[in-house]
Amino acid sequence: MYYTKKITDSVTWVGGVDRRLALFENLFPIENGVSYNSYLIMDDKTALLDTADSAISLQFFENVEHTLDGRSLDYLIVNHMEPDHCACIGELIRRYPEMKIVGNAQTFKFIKQFFDVELGEKAVTVKEGDKLSLGTHELSFYMAPMVHWPEVMATYDATEKILFSADAFGTFGAMNGTIFNDEEDFEGEWLDDARRYYSNIVGKYGPQVQAVLKKLKGLDIAMIAPLHGPVWRSNIDWFIDKYDKWSRYEAEEQGIVIAYASMYGDTANAADILAGELVEQGAKNVKVYDVSKTHVSKLISEVFKYSNLVIACPTYNNGIYPAMHEFINDMKALGIQGRKVGIIENGTWAPAAGKAIRAELESMKNIEIVEPVVTIRSALQSDSRTQLEALAKGML
Ligand SMILES: Cc1cc2nc3c(=O)[nH]c(=O)nc-3n(C[C@H](O)[C@H](O)[C@H](O)COP(=O)(O)O)c2cc1C
Ligand SMILES: [Fe+2]
Ligand SMILES: [Fe+2]
Repeated sequence: MYYTKKITDSVTWVGGVDRRLALFENLFPIENGVSYNSYLIMDDKTALLDTADSAISLQFFENVEHTLDGRSLDYLIVNHMEPDHCACIGELIRRYPEMKIVGNAQTFKFIKQFFDVELGEKAVTVKEGDKLSLGTHELSFYMAPMVHWPEVMATYDATEKILFSADAFGTFGAMNGTIFNDEEDFEGEWLDDARRYYSNIVGKYGPQVQAVLKKLKGLDIAMIAPLHGPVWRSNIDWFIDKYDKWSRYEAEEQGIVIAYASMYGDTANAADILAGELVEQGAKNVKVYDVSKTHVSKLISEVFKYSNLVIACPTYNNGIYPAMHEFINDMKALGIQGRKVGIIENGTWAPAAGKAIRAELESMKNIEIVEPVVTIRSALQSDSRTQLEALAKGML
């Protein structure tokens, strides 16, 4: 049965939610599910903005058919060609053979790669600033390359002042019968997932997000309709400000993330003692994580949120413990920068993790390494405990 939500009188959400999927992109745990948003504008011409993931395709097609109410579909606007949004394009073409497809040159290249179709006259190629009138609704297109794929664009409806923003301003999480941000406790219950979504999926492309934020400044926006999560109709500046901070790699809050790896418990013990020391000295937001038990996407999200980080790691085959290495590699890949970082190494016969971690951090932008690097030989002793106390002072 169809399940749709009205965004305005003439714009309807025709997407769906998935609470069964364990791992988004077969990688990111999504405890709260995810939504795949698609929007249908009913005007003199009808226009669908993006499709949906194949997992919800039946729901999606039922929603589209119900909302069209017997009318034909005139346009499909493709803001993003990642399969969680484009998977239904092939079937949509078969169901609505009259439909024209609106995208940029890169969009059409990807449609051919994914679907092996000859679009001919169906393809309407647009570029930055081009307009499309649906009757009352006047749409214009803004390119958002590498936020987070090269073909990404946003569509602005000047009539209703809605920005269809593709993955930007999206979040993990399935709505609870709701559709608007202010129908949920976004700051309390969704923000962590939104940050985890942004930092892991879009995080690498901070400069490109900054470029899009600059373009948005000129637009009068009443609503942001992303491809995942709720539609924004209030507090929009608050969420744009989050995006602005994240894309400048600026911490939201002062705080110290202590990420440790430990096989036998001694590096964990040092992490706890350091955390205790920091709290006693007045540090706020001290967060201790075992990297073997915490999904790396959560660690990345915490590093985006807080200003300081301590990496505590045993030496493993003369190098960095594997789970910690994955975390550090991810930090590098996502371009994390501008953080104050402390290092604790452990080793029984030839501690070497510290040197390797320092080299990784020095290859990243604007990382301040806090001295001293603490060296533990198997378990904390009085000399290494003294070093740990000195590190605690430096981290404050
Ligand atoms: C597979 C493996 C490889 C290791 N490689 C090294 C090494 O190259 N150099 C070293 O000093 N210690 C090495 N160690 C020892 C641990 O780093 C050391 O015992 C450390 O104190 C463990 O800290 P934990 O109690 O927090 O697990 C290795 C241990 C294992 C299991
Ligand atoms: Fe995407
Ligand atoms: Fe997406």
